[in-house]
Amino acid sequence: MPQLVSKKIAVLVSGGGTNLQALIDNQGNINGTIDIVISNKKDAYGLERARLNNIDALYINQKDYESAEAFNAEIISELTRRNIDLVVLAGYLKILSKDFINCFKNRIINIHPSLIPSFCGKGFYGLKVHEEAIKYGVKISGATVHFVDEDADTGSIILQDTVKIDDDETAESLQKKVLQIEHKLLPEAVRLFCEGKLHIENRKVIVK
Ligand code: GRF
Repeated sequence: MPQLVSKKIAVLVSGGGTNLQALIDNQGNINGTIDIVISNKKDAYGLERARLNNIDALYINQKDYESAEAFNAEIISELTRRNIDLVVLAGYLKILSKDFINCFKNRIINIHPSLIPSFCGKGFYGLKVHEEAIKYGVKISGATVHFVDEDADTGSIILQDTVKIDDDETAESLQKKVLQIEHKLLPEAVRLFCEGKLHIENRKVIVK
């Protein structure tokens, strides 16, 4: 069997970065290395997690650019300069430009804290996702890792897992439960990607 070339990974974060941490902790199982962590928020703790692990950490302020496209172009140029193979959105709250998505077609993955296609799309982020799931009365929720396409949370689904919603569940307790499964799903999806095992066939992701 030919030796697989190790992949270069970039992780984009806007917040605490517990999913980034899960990736860092699982790097031993992944045929790739996190080359850079980028954030649009100066005080995102995800940047600190990168620094603590000797990973390059870069803050890019959208306000320094005249348009969203120019801001995205700056990130694209940083990623292409580094020959990044895979972009992981781990709690990144900016919409990617069309150019960004085209440039990294089928090489951008996102994690969302619900069972897509429920409780997802524009405006569904943070506690709001869990509040809406509880309000609706669903009995299970979960997490989804998917490829990113031009719309919000509509790309091909790579992996999903579920959690039970108890009668006395709060958005906060559900968020905690879901994060626990996120921290397993995301490293697993990245591992599969880096081993070349994810194949998209008619929008379905086949793992082989
Ligand atoms: C996670 O719930 C993820 O699904 C969503 O944003 C949150 C990020 O959490 N996209 P963290 O910053 O990884 O702790």
